[in-house]
Amino acid sequence: EKAPPVALFLFGAHGDLVKRLLVPSLYNLTRDGLLGDALRVIGVDHNTVSDEDYRNRLADFMRENRPKAKEGGHDGDGFDQQLWDGLAPRISYLEGDFLDEGTYRQIAERIKASGTANAIFYLATAPRFFCDVVQRLAHAGLLEEGEDQFRRVIIEKPFGSDLRTAQELNARILSVMDEKQIYRIDHYLGKETVQNILVSRFANGLFEAFWNNHYVDHVQITAAETVGVETRGNFYEITGALRDMVPNHLFQLLAMVAMEPPAAFDADSVRSEKAKVIAAIRPQEVDEALRNSVRGQYTASEVDGKHLNGYREENRVAPDSTTETYVALKLWVDNWRWAGVPFYLRTGKRMGVRSTQIAICFKPAPMSPFRDTQVEELRPNYLIIQIQPDEGMWFDFQAKRPGTSLTLDNVGLGFAYADFFTMRPSTGYETLLYDCMTGDQTLFQRADNIENGWRAVHPFQEAFRDYPHVEPYAAGSGGPKAADDLLARDGRSWHSLK
Ligand code: BG6
Repeated sequence: EKAPPVALFLFGAHGDLVKRLLVPSLYNLTRDGLLGDALRVIGVDHNTVSDEDYRNRLADFMRENRPKAKEGGHDGDGFDQQLWDGLAPRISYLEGDFLDEGTYRQIAERIKASGTANAIFYLATAPRFFCDVVQRLAHAGLLEEGEDQFRRVIIEKPFGSDLRTAQELNARILSVMDEKQIYRIDHYLGKETVQNILVSRFANGLFEAFWNNHYVDHVQITAAETVGVETRGNFYEITGALRDMVPNHLFQLLAMVAMEPPAAFDADSVRSEKAKVIAAIRPQEVDEALRNSVRGQYTASEVDGKHLNGYREENRVAPDSTTETYVALKLWVDNWRWAGVPFYLRTGKRMGVRSTQIAICFKPAPMSPFRDTQVEELRPNYLIIQIQPDEGMWFDFQAKRPGTSLTLDNVGLGFAYADFFTMRPSTGYETLLYDCMTGDQTLFQRADNIENGWRAVHPFQEAFRDYPHVEPYAAGSGGPKAADDLLARDGRSWHSLK
């Protein structure tokens, strides 16, 4: 079904997000026939540029960067000029300062001219503008809804930098608009594989039978990236891996894996269950938090004859920076289902492989009937949920190796998305933009979800502030050794990454 008519304002029109993700998503939605003809997209920023130049810049970027057919494991579909020509005339540009009231008067005029009273304001800006823009929109009367008129605001991450700032931001925004109008984005929720976690768990009778502390030994959640900080040194220096990835993306994965079944698949039922499970993460004392965490920072190395910079040599990074580019944490979810089951989380930049996965490690068989044979040790079974790349799910278990002796080998049973579905290039933002247009908040963060996330990382933020030590790890490696030790102390190890 096509989205309703709407004027979509993109604040931060010259930023990376708009050209890399938002406009390609609108292109993909056009390809899939999901946008109404009455859609208008208006880029808002302070630079001077004509409508035509603005469109051309966006098109040039897509032409260069869109995956060609059969690239990156997906059925890429290249850049289709005709398709773009259908979307381009609906894109225009508005020059304006985010802090100037005149900009908001022009926005009101653009809405009038757009032929629809519905508007979405997408804040793809630096976070310092979030509050000011929302307040100016409200002041100009642009957030008033009517019976046939919606007004919504999409807010990017980072939403605050700790519990206090997130609470303040929520309070200020909620003083001028309703929670129903706010769409706080976490782009991990736009990923098919992340959405599929709930479908796997709750549309099948099998999984829930063993999805609890009777059968699960522990859970590992990994987001390993091969990229470094690229051009974002400025942002990353004050953010670090913990804030950048944990209370948002990794906790979304944790919530999907650990939450209770919602009574219905609607926005409030789903978000309430997520809020509960994140609220159940055990608060740790600062010294516990220190023991249960590892901070790392990548150092220069050679990989395949190529020099990789260390973090401290990156652009706009202090030569003695103690910002972490890697973090590993051990957490507990203190509720009936998960009591006693540790959740190990890790994320890092410039690691050897790019892989986002959840590994659920099951308890071993209660006894081994093979003890008088050559089988020395039974290995645990794992269920791997591979979020990216090579999306799919795998069971790792053991089987008898053919032959006269009784020896075991690790084998796998797997489902690869690519074997069943055509994975067209997608940025993850398609679903989110479409859902905002159709008014479905299920995949967006409610105020309490955000605050619970920050509350749960608070002890680690305190610990890191007091002890800003970083463990070095070579760029292109598997992360600091201390992260292996974190699990080894518990007699466990990280599952290998695909
Ligand atoms: C962003 C972080 O939110 O997520 C980046 O700011 C990170 O630092 C990115 O690289 C990871 O997203 P994805 O979709 O590539 O896993």
